Amino acid sequence: MPEFDLRFSKEQIASRIEVLAAQIDRDYAGKNLILLVVLKGSLHFASDLARKMKLDPPIDFIQLASYHDDTKSSGIVQLKKDHDMTIEDRDVLIVEDIVDTGLTLEYLRELLEARRPASVSCVSLLAKPDAHQREVALEYVGFDIKNEFVVGYGLDHAEKYRSLPFIAVLRNPV
Ligand code: IMP
Repeated sequence: MPEFDLRFSKEQIASRIEVLAAQIDRDYAGKNLILLVVLKGSLHFASDLARKMKLDPPIDFIQLASYHDDTKSSGIVQLKKDHDMTIEDRDVLIVEDIVDTGLTLEYLRELLEARRPASVSCVSLLAKPDAHQREVALEYVGFDIKNEFVVGYGLDHAEKYRSLPFIAVLRNPV
């Protein structure tokens, strides 16, 4: 059986998301917001965040790959699935699970900026400031964490643990 060291409980995550949702609602009132959800890790976060928001913005998805079935970044970012809706003249809010090295977010921002949106910002549930290799802008963060590999609440290790309701460090990765 896997053993976990808890980092954030279901309740802590939910109350932080309420605060983020209220902040985003305020900041994007009257704007042409679109939520761009980065698959797959932010699925639960995006779903909970969107349902706490009052603005009811359109939601689209994009998928990138920088990790293989490992806990280390490959350093190479690939586009696996592009978004469907146009983002031209829209205020894009990227919804990320975690910003680790920052390479994925840097790649994504450059890709989106070239499509002439009105603005691009990012909300990430987690950030690892000590692991950032890039000075990439991150407008909203749920929690800063140490440079350790976490799972749960959307975050996986080799496609496992995504549906745990909490975020934890895996004590005995298999
Ligand atoms: P970055 O490009 O290094 O910032 O990494 C971005 C992606 O790596 C995230 O969107 C996650 O999918 C994955 N990742 C980074 N750190 C972790 C972690 O601690 N647990 C699970 N996935 C992670």
